[in-house]
Amino acid sequence: MANKEVKPEGKESSWKDFIYNPRTGEFIGRTASSWALIFLFYVVFYGFLAGMFSLTMWVMLQTLDDYTPRYRDRVANPGLMIRPSYLDIMVNSSNFEQYKKYTNNLADFLKVYNDHVQEKNKMCDEGVYTIQDDEEEKKVCQFKRSQLRQCSGLGDTTFGYAEGQPCILIKMNRVIGLKPRGDPYINCTAKRDTPLLMQYFPAEGRFDKMYFPYYGKKAQPNYVQPLVAVKLLLSEQDYNTSLTIECKVEGSDLRNNDERDKFLGRVTFRVHVTK
Ligand SMILES: *[C@@H]1O[C@H](CO)[C@@H](O)[C@H](O)[C@H]1NC(C)=O
Ligand SMILES: *[C@@H]1O[C@H](CO)[C@@H](O)[C@H](O)[C@H]1NC(C)=O
Ligand SMILES: *[C@@H]1O[C@H](CO)[C@@H](O)[C@H](O)[C@H]1NC(C)=O
Repeated sequence: MANKEVKPEGKESSWKDFIYNPRTGEFIGRTASSWALIFLFYVVFYGFLAGMFSLTMWVMLQTLDDYTPRYRDRVANPGLMIRPSYLDIMVNSSNFEQYKKYTNNLADFLKVYNDHVQEKNKMCDEGVYTIQDDEEEKKVCQFKRSQLRQCSGLGDTTFGYAEGQPCILIKMNRVIGLKPRGDPYINCTAKRDTPLLMQYFPAEGRFDKMYFPYYGKKAQPNYVQPLVAVKLLLSEQDYNTSLTIECKVEGSDLRNNDERDKFLGRVTFRVHVTK
């Protein structure tokens, strides 16, 4: 359209004419109705795109179930994590200010395991899965903080850090529908020649079957996963050295030796304690 125009004399006036040409009534080379058509086209075009998007979204959401993820090729294997949430734990046991970040982290984490909170959950049968596929309302099995005994932070609020024998909590990530076969337990080993003494809570580091399967956040909002606490019974020669400790879930079909995923069924951390 613009090239059809008669070229006016001065450059200045041609530029002004380009913005608004009073003779033809064109604004930036187009008439008002032409602009209106372009505008209308884009409104319709984007409106159509937005409509398509909303429609596909809506159709997608109709197919989702609030309770279980739709696409799962198989039940995933859980990862392991530790609390305090540090993989490099440096403890100066004579300096509360130095290690309190660990004990505070443990105390915060264990709040939901407080006995009076867990007493609202149900007592379940030990050693058997708590299967409730058909129940409308899913109960949650209680895991009381006091089960962690010396690592509960109840008697000794420093979780052993003050005495130089720190507790580490191992938690297994939640996986909906997971029913580990066998009797999963945690086995920690120090990566060195001589074994390191450790104490497990609950006994033998077992994850009781009663806490499986998990039915998801919506069905079991108060679910807490079972924990295993490991107390490192360090002695004189273990201080001032960096200890690498690996904990694995054993005794079940849960995978713990994936070459690519270092957290699948296992976790490795370092502890360095000074007196
Ligand atoms: C540990 O803390 C104590 C008290 O604050 C301090 O005197 C000591 O030097 C610390 N030790 C190390 C190895 O940092
Ligand atoms: C823990 O793992 C170590 C090293 O793999 C092994 O020698 C030991 O027998 C295991 N302990 C238990 C109770 O499975
Ligand atoms: C540990 O290291 C600190 C500071 O380096 C030193 O003062 C202390 O004697 C060492 N203790 C042991 C048991 O080696």
